[in-house]
Amino acid sequence: MKVLVLNGVNLGRLGTRQPEVYGATTHAQLAEHLVETGQGLGLDVEVRQTDSEAKMVGWLHEAAANDWAVVINPAAWSHYSYAIADAVVQVETVVEVHISNVHAREEWRHRLVISPYVLGTIMGLGLGGYDLALAHLASRQ
Ligand code: DQA
Repeated sequence: MKVLVLNGVNLGRLGTRQPEVYGATTHAQLAEHLVETGQGLGLDVEVRQTDSEAKMVGWLHEAAANDWAVVINPAAWSHYSYAIADAVVQVETVVEVHISNVHAREEWRHRLVISPYVLGTIMGLGLGGYDLALAHLASRQ
C-alpha cells in the first residue's frame, strides 16, 4: 500500500520551531524515520511538506486519483481550511495527526474543520502519532 504522509504549513521547521511543543527532531529526520518504519510494515511511504495550501490540495487530488492512503498533519490549516477539508473528503483513507494536544492549547486551536472527514485523529502523542497512524494503516491491509 502506498501512503503519502503530508505535513502542512510551518512543519518544515520541525526541530527549530518551538521545540518544547514539537520536539527536537527535524522534518528530514522524521521523513527518514517514517520511510524506514513503513518498510518494516510493508508500506510504501512517501513524506512531503509544504507551506502552500494549493500544493497540499494538489497532493490530496493525486492521492485520490491513485487511491493512495494519506496521513496528514494539516497544521494551522486544521483550524480553518475548508479547501483542505473538501480535498480530504475525496481521499478514501485518511488519518489525521497532530503532534501536540490542540485541545490543551489556545482556544482557536480547538476547532478542527478537517477531522469530520478522516478515519481518526491522533493528537498529543508527539511524533509517535505518525508511527501509530502507519501501524493502523498497515493493520488495514
Ligand atoms: C499542529 C497543531 C496546530 O495547532 C499547529 O498550528 C501546528 C501543528 C500539531 O501537530 O500539533 O502547526 O498541527
